[in-house]
Amino acid sequence: MRTTLRGPSGPFTADVTVPGDKSLSHRALILAAMARGTSSVTGLGPGRDVDSTRSAIMSLGVEVQDGLVRSAGVDAWSDPGEPIDAGNSGTTLRLLAGALAGRPFRSTLVGDESLMRRPMGRLVGPLGALGARVETSDEATPPVSVGGDRLAGADVTIPIASAQVRSAVALAALQADGATTIDSPPGFRDHTERWLETLGRGSREEGHRFRVEPGPVPPADYAVPGDPSSAAYLLATAALAPGAEVVVRRISLNPGRTGFLDVLAAMGVDVAIEATGDVLGDPVGDVRVRGAKLEGVRIDGHLVARTLDEIPLLAVLAAAAEGDTVIADATELRVKESDRVETTVAMLRALGGEAEETPDGFVVAGGFLKPGTVDSEGDHRIALAAAVAATVAGQVEIEGFDASAVSWPGFVEELEAVWSS
Ligand code: S3P
Repeated sequence: MRTTLRGPSGPFTADVTVPGDKSLSHRALILAAMARGTSSVTGLGPGRDVDSTRSAIMSLGVEVQDGLVRSAGVDAWSDPGEPIDAGNSGTTLRLLAGALAGRPFRSTLVGDESLMRRPMGRLVGPLGALGARVETSDEATPPVSVGGDRLAGADVTIPIASAQVRSAVALAALQADGATTIDSPPGFRDHTERWLETLGRGSREEGHRFRVEPGPVPPADYAVPGDPSSAAYLLATAALAPGAEVVVRRISLNPGRTGFLDVLAAMGVDVAIEATGDVLGDPVGDVRVRGAKLEGVRIDGHLVARTLDEIPLLAVLAAAAEGDTVIADATELRVKESDRVETTVAMLRALGGEAEETPDGFVVAGGFLKPGTVDSEGDHRIALAAAVAATVAGQVEIEGFDASAVSWPGFVEELEAVWSS
């Protein structure tokens, strides 16, 4: 499917909300499915990835209907008797691998062509520390099989700042004999940790170590806020257009998600953040961005984990900025829904931008973008970032735009509404 965007015809001002957060939607569904009783889960993200988690928990015998999740508890999950299909969603596969590692039956998790190529070896050691046998293909990719093992609490140190791996260990640890501690480098989104703390099943320790107390999670009221990774596309279109202003209301402000806003500010953009509350201990608020002349920046170290999903979008901003932008320490980009070093560089070049791959990231020479055709390579974040590029490039055609439905079906209509407001 090819989609054409033509960019705004003048300055715009918009005050909007965005679909529910994808990361929190997966966690709300899984934690509600693990609880015994009825949880309220509202504001779920509308994308295909969240559908994958919903279908997966339903295949385990959990009821999901009209904003309610009814479960007899994780101990009552039934063996679906066939592989669980996580579709394009790494979060579905990795988080459920952790939750299912504590079940008495063995489960197998698979996904679409992209997910079947993604690294799962990172689950083996951390879940193995609790006594879980995690089997993968010889290439350490899916299918992933877990379950049938008695789990014991352990002190687990994860070498990468992956929220998915930390969460997988935490969900397994709820079903272990004895407490578990989980440590990793910083920068990860700590949604799971914050919710487990509020639900009485965990506590923060020194540094980034988190302690999980095994036992049941109670049913809860999960009012999922807007997705800051989705908001980023609308905030970025304002940042690219001097004179424009966009406000996005009630998005997650988890510190692992706000790296994008820090980078915007470092590029010279006027960013105002107002915290308005929290959902079970995870902060939410409103963000306003005003367009400005952009300057190149350097994104490296722990900032990479805090901006990871927004890097293709930041690359578009970098291409319209003055000076070079360097993305370093970002090899994780190579194992996302596509090799995002390669696909981001290809996107910019297709629009007349100058970008070069480096071993651990890429460098963008600021300047301008012009009309062109971008191939999404099946990656939703490339499709969405390329659409935003039309703000400055004029006409942009995107091949394979349907990939965007993984996180945001209906994005083009929202973007065009912002441009014409
Ligand atoms: C996610 C964690 C991040 C992020 C992904 C969603 C999550 O992945 O890139 O889109 O919801 O836990 P990693 O855990 O691989 O860093």
